[in-house]
Amino acid sequence: MDWKNRDVISIRDFSREDIEFVLKTAERLERELKEKGHLDYATGKILATLFFEPSTRTRLSFESAMHRLGGSVIGFSEASSTSVRKGESLRDTIKTVEQYSDVIVIRHPKEGAARLAAEVADIPVINAGDGSNQHPTQTLLDLYTIKSAFGKIDGLRIGLLGDLKYGRTVHSLSEALTHYDVELYLISPELLRMPRHIVEELRERGIRVHETDDLEGVIGELDVLYATRIQKERFPDEQEYLKVKGSYVIDREVLKKAKETLKVMHPLPRVDEIHPSVDSSKHAIYFKQVFSGVPVRMALLGLTLGVL
Ligand code: CP
Repeated sequence: MDWKNRDVISIRDFSREDIEFVLKTAERLERELKEKGHLDYATGKILATLFFEPSTRTRLSFESAMHRLGGSVIGFSEASSTSVRKGESLRDTIKTVEQYSDVIVIRHPKEGAARLAAEVADIPVINAGDGSNQHPTQTLLDLYTIKSAFGKIDGLRIGLLGDLKYGRTVHSLSEALTHYDVELYLISPELLRMPRHIVEELRERGIRVHETDDLEGVIGELDVLYATRIQKERFPDEQEYLKVKGSYVIDREVLKKAKETLKVMHPLPRVDEIHPSVDSSKHAIYFKQVFSGVPVRMALLGLTLGVL
């Protein structure tokens, strides 16, 4: 696989071999960073971060990753401060930004926006989340975190909890997990079940899938519990949101039913899905998961720039 100039738009474009290669590269970069403190693979290269939707982790970890590779960063975190406000199209924005940079990271509320950007640009484009569709770099860092915690991904029982309808992280992650021998527990209120086409595809690809709304009934089976926020901003009707708001809260009481070795993950931000008292428990790895964003995104930037 030639990584130079490759776009990263959907996890569907990744084979298991591709995923493993990114994870191995990230491991190597994490080790090198610990030894040397700072790397210079991307000296002279410029990353453009175009965030049309709010972000803390994805934008800042991409920026941190580029700085740690020795490169520099331009970009915006609100489209309202750009000429988009004057009516400039996404196409023209991308054609402009590629004159100033070597790689583009884009987050956009519309599904397919990152794919469109990749079609327009001659430089690599990385999808940092497009609507409810995909968040492939989050998935790669999620897999990196699971592998760091267990030394493997095959053989695990993984629960995806919360907003499985609108949550792009769980869409991407479940699709990536079809490359592994895992059992999936999809735990959500009826209104927020995983889209049927994804469940059908998971089953067609040999994944054992259990669907339930009963977290406490299945938590004892799980090796990983991946919680998600209910995506209020994606509900067409606030009344529908109010019906499912606060459906699950993971607290120390709920965790009494879990295996000692259960790991709790969350892409963050959280609202009320995980009680803060869980943060200091042996189960919580969601801040390690946040850290994984840096080496994984260093790997993706370095590979797509062709500097590693
Ligand atoms: N996990 C994630 O995408 O977080 P941000 O929205 O803060 O980038």
